[in-house]
Amino acid sequence: MPLDEAELEYFNRGKTENPRFWDRLGGEPSFEDIKILDLGCGHGSLCVYMASKGAKHVIGIDINKELINFARENVSKNFPHLEDGITFLCCEVSELPENEFDIIVSKDTFEHIIDLDKVLDEMKTRLKKGGRIYVGFGPLYNSPHGDHGRAKAVIPWGHIIFPESILIKRLNKKSQKKITSIQDLGLNKLSLAEYLRIFNQSDLSIIFLRVNASSKTSSKLFSQIRRIPFLEEYFSHNIYCVLER
Ligand SMILES: C[S@@+](CC[C@H](N)C(=O)[O-])C[C@H]1O[C@@H](n2cnc3c(N)ncnc32)[C@H](O)[C@@H]1O
Repeated sequence: MPLDEAELEYFNRGKTENPRFWDRLGGEPSFEDIKILDLGCGHGSLCVYMASKGAKHVIGIDINKELINFARENVSKNFPHLEDGITFLCCEVSELPENEFDIIVSKDTFEHIIDLDKVLDEMKTRLKKGGRIYVGFGPLYNSPHGDHGRAKAVIPWGHIIFPESILIKRLNKKSQKKITSIQDLGLNKLSLAEYLRIFNQSDLSIIFLRVNASSKTSSKLFSQIRRIPFLEEYFSHNIYCVLER
């Protein structure tokens, strides 16, 4: 059976985003001959990227079984020369062996992880000593489109302006699948301050941290506005960070 066109398009979009992901982290490390974990690999495009750049082995994990199935099938059909170098698993990071990876990467996933402090701790122990975590994600929940459009709040910041109970009531009216919280939409709702607290308390060294990494004019404007302490939360839309064990 051919691969689903929409899923393939998503994978290809990821492919074009990968160089930008590394730019925003201050440049990409060498992947040559190292063991890498991609947490929240989705369709697997970052795994393919790193494997094609000489990684010894890339393990992509995701809790979404359909995405893992797509990622496996896509590599088998379209990148057979990389198949031995990539493994896709539907599992939690806690199921993987400890002290295993030279680097862990996670792209556009941290805002979806519900127990982030616990998961980051599990990531830390999967790293070899001196290993690094490269993470970039957004939009942050308190930024204009921090609900990823999922709360259908219509206006920018609408998801934090309107009470959650009203948003949920509206969503449940229109959908068969009933939810009881924003977390049921796959968003952890963490604020910029909470992410920074989690990183600072992780027992990992923060060796790179950038907020509002983007070349867009609107992002540059946001970076000026976020200097005003009260507005910092609402005008910070993404985080790019490198942590070291
Ligand atoms: C927006 S997608 C990003 C996928 C991919 N990294 C990309 O950039 O296209 C976020 C992914 O994180 C996954 N995810 C959420 N929580 C997770 C967890 N605790 N462990 C592994 N994957 C998780 C979701 O299933 C989803 O596929």
